[in-house]
Amino acid sequence: MTDDKTLFSEIDHVAIAVNDLEEAIEFYRSTFGAEVEHREVVDSDGVEEALIKVAESYIQLLTPTKEDSPVAKYLEKRGQGLHHVGYRVKDCKAALEAVKASGRRVIDEEPRPGSRGTTVAFVHPSAAFGTLIELVQE
Ligand code: CO
Repeated sequence: MTDDKTLFSEIDHVAIAVNDLEEAIEFYRSTFGAEVEHREVVDSDGVEEALIKVAESYIQLLTPTKEDSPVAKYLEKRGQGLHHVGYRVKDCKAALEAVKASGRRVIDEEPRPGSRGTTVAFVHPSAAFGTLIELVQE
């Protein structure tokens, strides 16, 4: 079903920044019956995340583990809510190069390790109508 022209193969995750991870997990559990499938602290990003699977995609609840992490700054400035959208791609490096070749601003010049053993790269929100975009290769 995937259009050959798109770099995206799936929505990998929708990331939501929250102040209290346990409270957010409990909200999804008690309200929607949605259970956490995976939790991980990503030290390099200064975050802890909880992943709730929805079909082949995830809701990613994100909370900062350090006061100076980008997510901590985001929460301070913008408050809780939608933080980024992760699109699954076959080849993160190729997708990132395509974005760079189009002249768009990126955050990561090279792909780097993400959670769940993925390879990821971020496209700057100023290049994407205000939405932080993550390219995710499983
Ligand atoms: Co993400």
